Amino acid sequence: MLPVQLCVAALLVVCITHWIYRWRNPKCNGILPPGSMGLPLVGESLQLLVPSNSFDLPPFLKTRLHRYGPIFRTSVAGRAVVVSADPEFNHFIFQQQGRLVESWYLDLFAKLFKQAENRADGAYVHKYVRNLILSHFGVESLKETLLSPLEATVRETISTWSNQESVEVKDAVSAMAFDFATREIYSSDAENFSQNLREKFTCLSRGLLSFPLNIPGTTYNKCLKNRKAALDLLSMLVKKRRASPDQMHKKVDVLDHVLQDMTSEKFLTEDFIVQLMFGLSFVSFETVSGAATMLINLLGNNPLVLEELTAEHEGILKKRENPNSSITWEEYKSMTFTLHVINETLRLGSVSPGLLRRARKDIEFNGYTIPKGWAIMLLSSAVQMNPEIYKDPLSFNPWRWKDLEPSVISKNYMPFGSGIKQCAGSEYTKLFLATFIHVLVTKHRWIKIRGGNVTRNPMLQLKNGLCIKILGKND
Ligand code: HEM
Repeated sequence: MLPVQLCVAALLVVCITHWIYRWRNPKCNGILPPGSMGLPLVGESLQLLVPSNSFDLPPFLKTRLHRYGPIFRTSVAGRAVVVSADPEFNHFIFQQQGRLVESWYLDLFAKLFKQAENRADGAYVHKYVRNLILSHFGVESLKETLLSPLEATVRETISTWSNQESVEVKDAVSAMAFDFATREIYSSDAENFSQNLREKFTCLSRGLLSFPLNIPGTTYNKCLKNRKAALDLLSMLVKKRRASPDQMHKKVDVLDHVLQDMTSEKFLTEDFIVQLMFGLSFVSFETVSGAATMLINLLGNNPLVLEELTAEHEGILKKRENPNSSITWEEYKSMTFTLHVINETLRLGSVSPGLLRRARKDIEFNGYTIPKGWAIMLLSSAVQMNPEIYKDPLSFNPWRWKDLEPSVISKNYMPFGSGIKQCAGSEYTKLFLATFIHVLVTKHRWIKIRGGNVTRNPMLQLKNGLCIKILGKND
């Protein structure tokens, strides 16, 4: 070999060795939490994707929490991440939103959600969006306008299910939740392409946690295409509504609301509104349908819980003058055991293992430093499985909620997050699930046809879904 080639080869070896060393020992102005960065580029992504068949934490997290303690470092999908199952640290990070940390989203949603945060008026925009959603899906709206149509939709939909040979629960509840929520978001405009839009969103949700490799054929690539198609449809819808502002809707929906605010709120551009419609449509059905499916599955496997739940709802009917009248807000508020069942379902069956943030500055905690730019995963699922708080944490036991103090719950139960970014749809979700249960146990019963086995990879799902046959109450 010529001396020049030798020199180039030697330089290459030095550079690669240095790069590998840097990968394994990332720069930090202090001590990094314990852990390993795995293989160059891939990190520990492959280990994270090893599936497990239980409600328990994914094996990837369990082994590392056992080995390193409640805070450790790793690298997933090409990104440096600190993972925390420490309730004190998680609480601290939730309080630091917008100061030491910002939200961090998967690339698929980054543009959508980061639009607001990257602006100088980010806090103002966040507050506007939050208030907008709360004014349509918050307690007042639920009580005054949504409860009755929600119950009517659930009754009608479950009744059509009872005419079918079988129902794939996740798909069927997704369709119902999507159609109901999008009626509140963009009314009847959506009806023309509701199914088309719903299909795009459903495909998108299937690849949420896919590896961000954008080449034809990958799940990520398909997700990006579906996202674009959904955004194009929504863009058409917004343009159409803007072009005919005189066509007033009987009830102001979310789209009317933002279009009316365009003159006073300069940040409300057409692109922003399309992104907002996209994000809201997605969160309003995907999460609820996952929770409802898990709920039916858990009830099917726990007959004593179903018995007590049915008794609570039949008790409500007995107190009514007309058993067929609609649920009142007071009746909803009296569903104590139902709320315990919902809490327990979300504790055990939360789809995502945790919430993501990114360090805006170096963060010091308990002698460790989390470098600026690193992602932080707050493991709400690990906190919700803590055996010191939730005895026998893998068992589905709604009765445990009778004895849990609110102060303990606030730090150890966070399916809806915490702090200023706490879920704006939590009350809607609880009402949706309670109404769903009410109709299901007072008017129907069901038998499982197939499916229902849980799997984590690392999102919690039902392997092969859950397929049921809906029957009348006395069939
Ligand atoms: C089972 C149902 C649901 C679960 C488990 C859930 C969970 C969450 C969580 C954990 C967060 C906080 C994210 C973070 O801190 O990074 C969040 C935020 C949010 N959720 Fe939900 N969610 C559910 C249903 C819904 C629904 C039905 C809607 C809309 C109607 C909704 C709208 C939102 C919004 C707008 C935010 C952002 C709030 C903010 O930044 O101020 N969610 N959700």
